[in-house]
Amino acid sequence: MREGYIEVLERVTSAIEPSKDDLIYLLETKDTKEYTILSQAACDIRDIYCGKRMAIRGLVEFSSFCKNTCKYCGLNRYNKTASRYRLNPDEIIKLADHVYTAGFHTIVLQSGEDGYPAQEIAKIITSIKVKFNIAITLSVGERSFEDYQLWKEAGADRYLLRIETKDRLLYKSLHQGRNVETRLQALKDLQSLGYQTGSGIMIGSPGQTIEHIANDILFLTKEAFDMIGIGPFIPHEKTPFARYPKGPVQLTLNTLALLRICTKNTWIPATTALGSLERDYRLDALMAGANVVMPNFSPESIKKKYEIYPNKSCVKEKEESVHMLCKNLASKAGLEIDYARCDSLKVT
Ligand code: 5AD
Repeated sequence: MREGYIEVLERVTSAIEPSKDDLIYLLETKDTKEYTILSQAACDIRDIYCGKRMAIRGLVEFSSFCKNTCKYCGLNRYNKTASRYRLNPDEIIKLADHVYTAGFHTIVLQSGEDGYPAQEIAKIITSIKVKFNIAITLSVGERSFEDYQLWKEAGADRYLLRIETKDRLLYKSLHQGRNVETRLQALKDLQSLGYQTGSGIMIGSPGQTIEHIANDILFLTKEAFDMIGIGPFIPHEKTPFARYPKGPVQLTLNTLALLRICTKNTWIPATTALGSLERDYRLDALMAGANVVMPNFSPESIKKKYEIYPNKSCVKEKEESVHMLCKNLASKAGLEIDYARCDSLKVT
């Protein structure tokens, strides 16, 4: 263990705005003793600020069409071999029924940047809200302010939009023809409309340095997002980044723990990406301060087609075993499953 480790950790824990150098020092944690202390500190903070509980969200991936060009993602529009599908409103509402019947009180509607008509999405939101007592989270990429507003008025509660990186140059090198300013504006718009807003980053994307990650931790802390998703980059064969290595697991867990320590009362999922490596690291994520699991309710026939990266853990998971999965993860992590909506913990 490095000398002074505990002092740096204490400084970061109590700071309103930690120093970048301290964050970099803690991000570099590799020693098992250091990691035990870091992850324990993160779990202590989670338990105090969020309770000793794990929220569950039902994920439905309703379209794999995408007009975006993210160089890491298997759904990017240049991947001509990707299988594209789009569920119709009735199919989506039926899946919301599955999610609700399974005892979940949040549904996450996710898709590529499909261009699904805004009015149709609004109708789906309203139908789900009328039928089921369930929170709706949208994760459909960048749209216009008017669309966000329409969906909020239709009853959507939350929106997930990862920044991926706050760094202008890195953002440009990951997303051909797009810029971080638009992304930042979208996040501002969502927050101003009253959405519980989630963001997050990928760890180990090509060109990313530890300094980028430290800056992103500071950004995610300052913006007080209600939810933060963190996962390792996983190369997809049919993308320009096919030959780059996976994001390091330890660095992903260190980042997660530090986000917990810095942001305190945030919903942080043990992401599918962390479950899709050489083994399932979702339990490790919960033991590093995460407190959400998002089982996949997409039908078997389409799960494989929503291939943002290969070997997604959920492809092997059956709807019937969702409860076992959640129960196992929660009990091993020493958490109680919270079946309620689990709204934002931030004071507004
Ligand atoms: N590896 C890891 N995460 C990825 N995502 C997209 N492609 C990949 C990949 N190859 C993540 C992005 C996106 C979220 C839905 O999935 O962070 O925001």
